[in-house]
Amino acid sequence: MNQSVKMLTIRDVSAMKQRGEKISCLTAYDASFSAIIDQAGIDLMLVGDSLGMVIQGSDATLQVSIRDMAYHTRAVCKARRRAFVVADLPFMTYPTPLVAAQNAAKLMRAGAQMVKLEGARTDCIRFLVDQGIPVCGHLGLLPQSINQLGGYRVQGREPADAEKILTEALQVQEAGAALLVLECVPADLAGEIGKQLAIPVIGIGAGADCDGQVLVLYDMLDIGILRRPRFSMNFMKGAAGVEEAIRAYRLAVKEGRFPAAEHSY
Ligand code: KIV
Repeated sequence: MNQSVKMLTIRDVSAMKQRGEKISCLTAYDASFSAIIDQAGIDLMLVGDSLGMVIQGSDATLQVSIRDMAYHTRAVCKARRRAFVVADLPFMTYPTPLVAAQNAAKLMRAGAQMVKLEGARTDCIRFLVDQGIPVCGHLGLLPQSINQLGGYRVQGREPADAEKILTEALQVQEAGAALLVLECVPADLAGEIGKQLAIPVIGIGAGADCDGQVLVLYDMLDIGILRRPRFSMNFMKGAAGVEEAIRAYRLAVKEGRFPAAEHSY
């Protein structure tokens, strides 16, 4: 293994947007997959609270604790060499800015380089950034608010909802977030947000015009226990193994071939 691999920083990720290079991202939850994803050249690994569904077998992300997240973040970071690692603050771990900072510190100590939180929580984002903790926002479909949303469905189809998501994206950036995940929004809305924001926008079910793409690892390897969502794709098809499937995903993202129209709204 090459010992001189340089770990990516948020500056490297931001520079990709500036030079128009698509950012490749996958979720990761353990050391073995982390090593393969890293070896395949994926830029960003997200230790997502989707682990509640794909690892723990729950039907939502709400059961995941900060202890779970720190455990999986530590495992992922032990095997990572180059990829930038973002870890999710799970449900109800950021009710106030101070509690958010205490919980974010657990993920940063486990090796994360950035934490992600859902919604336009500008109070928490501002406070975390003031403490030196980089933040990724997450707008559109918010899995931690699934009981309020009433189901996993596309957000921002109506003009007023689209306007709200765009306004919130600008607020999240203004509060100091350095990345934004947009989940399940119409492709034209995501494209517009990507154009208006200086920070990179990473899409999942948000069309091809985002600055980067993320998928849940188990969906794209077709090993999930839940139905693969329409916006995902089985990259194991035609691949000789896991690393080859991940390399194919990376190339498809970098070349703008994924997502195609059939994966978008
Ligand atoms: O938890 C997760 O995997 C996520 C992605 C869906 C973006 O937040």
